[in-house]
Amino acid sequence: MFRISQFMDELVTPSTVGPRRNPPGPVVIWNLVRRCNLTCKHCYSISADKDFPGELNTEQVFTVMDDLKAFRVPVLILSGGEPLLRPDIFDIARRAKGMGFYVGLSSNGTLISEANIDAIADIGFDYVGVSLDGIKETHDRFRRLEGAFDASLAGIRLCKERGIKVGVRYTMTQDNAHDLPGLLKLIEAEGIDKFYFSHLNYAGRGNKNRATDTHHLATRQAMDLLLDTCWDYRQKGLHKEFVTGNNDADGVYLLRWVARRFPDKVSHIRAKLEQWGGNASGVNVANIDNLGNVHPDTMWWHHTLGNVKERPFSTLWNDLSDPLMAGLKQHPRPVEGRCGACAYLNICNGNTRVRAQQLTGNPWAEDPACYLSDEEIGVKKVTEVSL
Ligand SMILES: C[S@@+](CC[C@H](N)C(=O)[O-])C[C@H]1O[C@@H](n2cnc3c(N)ncnc32)[C@H](O)[C@@H]1O
Ligand code: SF4
Repeated sequence: MFRISQFMDELVTPSTVGPRRNPPGPVVIWNLVRRCNLTCKHCYSISADKDFPGELNTEQVFTVMDDLKAFRVPVLILSGGEPLLRPDIFDIARRAKGMGFYVGLSSNGTLISEANIDAIADIGFDYVGVSLDGIKETHDRFRRLEGAFDASLAGIRLCKERGIKVGVRYTMTQDNAHDLPGLLKLIEAEGIDKFYFSHLNYAGRGNKNRATDTHHLATRQAMDLLLDTCWDYRQKGLHKEFVTGNNDADGVYLLRWVARRFPDKVSHIRAKLEQWGGNASGVNVANIDNLGNVHPDTMWWHHTLGNVKERPFSTLWNDLSDPLMAGLKQHPRPVEGRCGACAYLNICNGNTRVRAQQLTGNPWAEDPACYLSDEEIGVKKVTEVSL
């Protein structure tokens, strides 16, 4: 995750540059249930409204939670599928909060209602993220349910009314890129605390539909809008968080934005970006799926490190006999092509390995969604071969 707002803050009130980020345990995104009332076009978990046998029961979830705590995992993001479809979701969330985890709920928002908002508020989630992939029909088409937009927005409003920190998550493809300006207006009008802009990752239905990924020019335009909007808020002294996910080239793109607008701040921001360190899959971000399988992140369900029913998460996470994990934990990562030659590898860390792997079979190939030009990353294109 790339926190644009934090870097904007650095432009105004620079903080000391520390060593590369190295938190105690990884942030764990936990898909507790795969069932979902929606069947979104891009869904990495290929969720649907049916039972998926073999999911962890409450007791198993609690056992894993104890291990995660002992392993010093700081954050649990409870996700799915639709996590609110899990009957014991509030028991799980309450216990997690009681144990001192930072607990986020990752929901499509359609099932947040008058009937459960008191329970949601009572748990004290640190953050509730609701997906909105466009305005009205765009969102409904993307999420394949008429009325989904209205239901999700109603859920967001209920959270706001109860004082819960709430954010919108938006994944951009060619189908909904035109709605980004409208969504940014919506989050302003609704007083929504956070906007998470996600690039498409090539996993599950998102891989099947990867031809809908935006062209690099559209991605750049979206990033320009996002950076300018975030800076606008910062200048007005208004607090709103802007973060991005699934494309660590965003860090380098921000550096270029800073070079144009605030050339005297480039060296500080560059140092801060290096401290952030780019892609964190397999290092600072982990995933446990509904069956208890552990993956380097949510987009690697086709690569399993083992199952928490058989071995503790802590053991699986530190087992470097898995070549993918060994490579992800290596610094610098053994990336190839443009990524290997990039002058900013220490900022972005080679970006998203899943896309490279899905396209070429090689997890270390260059990320096809890096939208920076060869010139921008300091790579000279060989146009002529001299004989
Ligand atoms: C799998 S969903 C689970 C939580 C909830 N059902 C929802 O839709 O928000 C978690 C988040 O991942 C996003 N997501 C799903 N597939 C994705 C993909 N292929 N690339 C990027 N983001 C994706 C969704 O849009 C959502 O914001
Ligand atoms: S993205 Fe979320 S809401 Fe959509 S199908 Fe997947 S789990 Fe369900």
